[in-house]
Amino acid sequence: MTIKLLAVCGSTREHSYSGRLAIIALATAREHGAETRLLELNEINLPTYNPDKDDMDHEGLRVATEAVNWADAFLLASPDYHGSMSGAMKNFLDFYWAEFAGKLFGYVVASHEKGLTVMEHMRTSVRQCYGWSLPYGVSVHGEKDFDSSGLANPQVARRLRMLARDLVVYGALVRGQFQQDLANGVTETFAARYR
Ligand SMILES: Cc1cc2nc3c(=O)[nH]c(=O)nc-3n(C[C@H](O)[C@H](O)[C@H](O)COP(=O)(O)O)c2cc1C
Repeated sequence: MTIKLLAVCGSTREHSYSGRLAIIALATAREHGAETRLLELNEINLPTYNPDKDDMDHEGLRVATEAVNWADAFLLASPDYHGSMSGAMKNFLDFYWAEFAGKLFGYVVASHEKGLTVMEHMRTSVRQCYGWSLPYGVSVHGEKDFDSSGLANPQVARRLRMLARDLVVYGALVRGQFQQDLANGVTETFAARYR
């Protein structure tokens, strides 16, 4: 299958480091045959999630929901804010749950540390929605790892290429199996509850 990979950028900064990581990863994913899209949360300006409100008349929410439904796999890109994901990213995740089931997620973080707790918090939110996660992620210290020509740290660049490749390859396996389980009426699988 040609996998559709959606990167979601959770920074509200222009030219953010996390967004730049996502753009590089998407380029590699296309080299591996993926179709890709980038959803920049600072552009669509989602309302704050309110379970009592149907905000589907909000243009940004319609754009996000169409992209989420389109995607077979996700790359979540967030800055490290207080050791966690940005509020914009958490707010985006709050709008969805069943849409994440049976889809693979990868994580990239811009952090002055290693961004591990940020990835862990995103991974926990995704797991809660029956999404699958790559067991590793990539973090970048923007001021040290980027220079005027772009990503200048070869180790980070190599890890990012690996992550993009694994998202495409393992993402297709997870999504393909989930869709097959849905179609074949398999009952003893978590996919059964999404039929
Ligand atoms: C509100 C706020 C909280 C932050 N908290 C942390 C933190 O806990 N740990 C850390 O390493 N960096 C922290 N930072 C630094 C950002 O993670 C860093 O500047 C990152 O590059 C921003 O990502 P972006 O370029 O994708 O927006 C914080 C920055 C802001 C604005």
